[in-house]
Amino acid sequence: MWAASTPVRGEYKLRTFTHLAGEERSWTIYKEHGCRFKVDITKVFITPRLNNEHIRVARQVRPGEVVVNMFAGAGLFSIIIACKSKPRKVYSIDINEHAYKLMIENARLNRVEDIVEPIHGDAARVVEERLQQVADRVLMPLPDLALQYLPHALKALKPQGGVIHIYLHIHTPKGVNPLEEAWRKAKTRLPPGSRLLQARRVRPVGPRTLQVVLDVEVRHSG
Ligand SMILES: C[S@@+](CC[C@H](N)C(=O)[O-])C[C@H]1O[C@@H](n2cnc3c(N)ncnc32)[C@H](O)[C@@H]1O
Repeated sequence: MWAASTPVRGEYKLRTFTHLAGEERSWTIYKEHGCRFKVDITKVFITPRLNNEHIRVARQVRPGEVVVNMFAGAGLFSIIIACKSKPRKVYSIDINEHAYKLMIENARLNRVEDIVEPIHGDAARVVEERLQQVADRVLMPLPDLALQYLPHALKALKPQGGVIHIYLHIHTPKGVNPLEEAWRKAKTRLPPGSRLLQARRVRPVGPRTLQVVLDVEVRHSG
């Protein structure tokens, strides 16, 4: 048994854990939506609180789509999409080498290794070097970097455009509508004509702070 002794922090979004009792083993098999994931809570970000989001996004994916997941962790969005929808490819990027290795194992565990392609590296660099104009859909499940990396997400979309899922943390003092505030922040960085398909509250992440998601349709003009 382990207890988290810090909130998530750092580039890899990890908590520090203290071992309390029982076997000192930090990995486990976590099950979600009929898929199985090997995770190590000391080495890779994992939370059951994104469970609704994983399946909500997977249900939007149409057969044959190419998806780029810029911040994939142990591969939960990517593998649930591959298992539940019929994408052609899910490029699944993470900068944490442990996350990358777990993604390889998890793609095999769920028999989607032909669909999910784990890539180790910084998402901006990976897109610039090898994933420009390939995607129908881009996932950005890292609020700290989502706005900064939006230009790279736009480059990953096919020339005709596609959908981007942008996750943000929004501070919500009294009188502020978090969904309007999130859209206000994102839309100035999007091409003209981008359309908000849906804005949702995902979960509270701190005092007066919410994680929200914007599903945005981008149509490139040329
Ligand atoms: C919030 S977690 C992702 C959660 C995951 N999508 C899920 O559903 O479980 C964010 C991930 O982004 C990764 N990350 C941080 N900076 C990155 C970067 N520049 N490029 C790619 N991945 C990055 C972290 O290692 C971490 O695994």
